[in-house]
Amino acid sequence: MIKQNISFDISVYDSIEELWLGDKELMQLAILAREKAYAPYSSFNVGAAVLLENGKIVTGSNQENAAYPSGLCAERVAVFYAGANYPGIKIEKIAITAASINYVVEKPAAPCGNCRQAISEYEVKQKAPIALLLMGEKGKVLKCDAIADILPLAFTSNYL
Ligand code: THU
Repeated sequence: MIKQNISFDISVYDSIEELWLGDKELMQLAILAREKAYAPYSSFNVGAAVLLENGKIVTGSNQENAAYPSGLCAERVAVFYAGANYPGIKIEKIAITAASINYVVEKPAAPCGNCRQAISEYEVKQKAPIALLLMGEKGKVLKCDAIADILPLAFTSNYL
C-alpha cells in the first residue's frame, strides 16, 4: 500500500476589488444574476456568470420549487443554458456568488457536489480547464484553476 496526496493551488483575493478587471466584471454579472434568484424557501440567493471562449457571458440564478428537489442551483441553470444554447463552445470560467436574506455571507460559496459533477462533464468534454471564482456577498474571493481540483477522483464517461 502506498499513500498518495492530492492537493491543488487556490488563489485567495481579499475582495472583489483585488480581481483583474475581466474577473471583476464577470463577478459583477454574477451579482446581478444573484439578485434575480428565486429562493423563497431557503432565502439563499446564488448567482453564476459563465464566460465562454467566444467572449459571450451567460448567467443563471437558483430556482427553487415547492417540491424542493425540483429546484435547481444557479451554477447548473447557467451551465446548462450555455450547453443548450452554445453547444461546442468551450466554457472558460464561472463566477459564483451567494447572499442570504438572513445573514451576511462573508465566506466564498463553493458549488455543491451535484454542480461540481455537472461542470466536470463539460470540462472533460472540452478537454480544457474551467476556472472558478467564488464569493459570498462580500469578503474574500477564491479562484480555482479547474473544476477537477475541487472534484478529485471524479466519475466520468471513461468508466462507461
Ligand atoms: N445553491 C446553489 O444555487 N448553488 C450551490 O452550489 C449550492 C446551493 C442553492 C440551491 C438552493 O436554492 C439554495 O442554494 C439553498 O441550498
